[in-house]
Order: sequence, then C-alpha cells, then structure tokens
Amino acid sequence: MSAGRSGRPVVVVTRRLPRPVEEPLAREFDARLNADDHPLSAVELADALRAADGLLPTVTDRLTAQVLAVEPLRARILANYGVGFNHIDTVSAKARGLVVTNTPDVLTDDTADDALMLLLMVARRGGEGERHVRSGAWTGWRPTHMLGTRVTGKTLGLIGLGRIGRAVAHRARSGFGMRVIFHDPSPPPAAVVSELGAEPRASVDDVLREADFVSLHSPATPETRHLMDARRLALMKRGAFLVNNARGDIVDETALVAALKQGTIAGAGLDVFEHEPAVTPDLLTMENVVLLPHLGSATHETRIAMGLRALENLKAFFAGAPPRDRVA
Ligand code: DGY
Repeated sequence: MSAGRSGRPVVVVTRRLPRPVEEPLAREFDARLNADDHPLSAVELADALRAADGLLPTVTDRLTAQVLAVEPLRARILANYGVGFNHIDTVSAKARGLVVTNTPDVLTDDTADDALMLLLMVARRGGEGERHVRSGAWTGWRPTHMLGTRVTGKTLGLIGLGRIGRAVAHRARSGFGMRVIFHDPSPPPAAVVSELGAEPRASVDDVLREADFVSLHSPATPETRHLMDARRLALMKRGAFLVNNARGDIVDETALVAALKQGTIAGAGLDVFEHEPAVTPDLLTMENVVLLPHLGSATHETRIAMGLRALENLKAFFAGAPPRDRVA
C-alpha cells in the first residue's frame, strides 16, 4: 500500500464535507481537505490523481477520459460521494485500474421526499405563492385566488422503479392515495412491485399518455440522455406536470421550455438541470415551474451518512477487502 508521510494512504477530498465526516477521514487517512470548498478544475483533479492514493470526489467533479489519462497515475480508487456516477468516465477508470464506488441507500428517503416536495409545490403553486406573499402583493383569502391542482387520487407515472422510484411510489400511494404506474427496463421483482401496488406499463410512452404527474428516476446514461424530448413531452396530458430530481440531461431543457410555453404540459418541478448550475433563462421567468438547487440529498443526516459510506468504501479498499459499493 502506498502512503503519505504519516504512513497512511493519501486521500484527496474534493469539497468540504460535514465535520462528522471530515474528522474520521482525517483520522483514518492522510486526508487532504478542501478548506475553502472551491470546485477543483480539471488540472487540479489531474494533480490529485497524481498525488493521492485515493480520491473522494463529488457529483460535480468531471472525471473525464482526459483527466483520467493523467501520468503518472498514483490513485487507485475513486470513492464517490453520491449515488450517481455519470460524472465519472467509468470505462476509462476501469482501463486505468481505478476502482469506483458510490453511496447508495443512504439518500433514498430524502431524495424521495424532495421529489414529492417538487410535485406538491408545482401542483399547489407553492413557489409562486411564496413569492406572492414576500412581494407584499397578497391582499387576503378569496375563493378564486391561486387555485392549483389536486394531488390526491391522481395518477403518478414513474420512469424508473429503482430504490428512489420505489420510495416515491410508497409515499405517493400511502400518503396521497395516488395511483402509481411505472416503466423500468429492469423492473424489481414482481413481489416488490405488487407490494408497492404499482402497475407496470410496457413503455415510457405508455406511462406518459396516462399520468397526471410524471417523475423521473432513471440513472443518467447515454440511453436516457434527452429521454424527455419534444416528442415525449407532447405525449403527456395537457394538464400534466413533470418532476425531475434525477439528472438534468434526462430532459431536453430546450424542448421543455417550448412545451411549457405552448401549454403542452401544465408545469415542471426541477431539482436538476441540463447544464447545471446554469438554468435555461426562460425557466427563471415561468411561474408554473419550481426550481430547486439540486437539494435531493441535502439534509444533515443524509450528507453525513453519504460521507461515512464513502469512508467505509475507502477503508475496505485500503484494508484489501472488496468495497461494499463498487460500481466499476
Ligand atoms: C447523487 O448522490 O447522485 C445526488 O445527485 C446528490 O446527492
């Protein structure tokens, strides 16, 4: 095992992490923390791969083929802080002998809550109402003021029924009496689906035609890029809402703006963006759109749990054991 001056493996941590994570990281490893929390450039990421035995990146660090081609490469593991790992070129990582891990499970509930928050906010005009009160324009209760769309009893269409999709289905059915339909190319076992009371559909298009709310829970892959394009948005009901807290590029943001302008769909709740942190300017001006800054896993509890899970993966790897969450 290579090691730093302290005799412990050197681990570069790309962003500030909660203190209960940074402390054990610094105890277990020769941890190089990012005191000012600046996002690392491609050059800094490459330097880290040259200098450290392991990297603890987050979901905004673009570990491209070019960055991973660095010479000489010292790092042997990318212990990602986050469940999504589409920012890592896993083919190149594998070719360079780098193990890649992620942090599943621990963020499922909070991310599902975030999807329901978007759904409720967009249906009940939560963001718009809040802006209205803050602006001082509110003149008081009246029967016709700011009417939204009922959620209870409506049909929720899930694209993807993985861990987070299932947690959303459970909340929607048990909390809001929603009917849940879904499409997933690799669905969970039939017993899991039937316990959830979710109804499978043969295709994404079938879900879109039937749902009052569509929520995206697919991983970001070349196959799911722009899954929600102009054609698919046009399949949605005119009064339907789109929710996305998976990954931005699953939605063609230009097509979404056009669909919202034309009234093809009623609104959208977005926690992630195609060119994050940039947001298509038109979206910023639309009242029927809820925009959140990638908050899915953003609770104290989950952000600590994610860090401890990444730490667990690093410890296993440097102890010579298979890390629990290896994805490449
Ligand atoms: C993830 O983990 O992939 C989320 O997008 C950030 O928590």
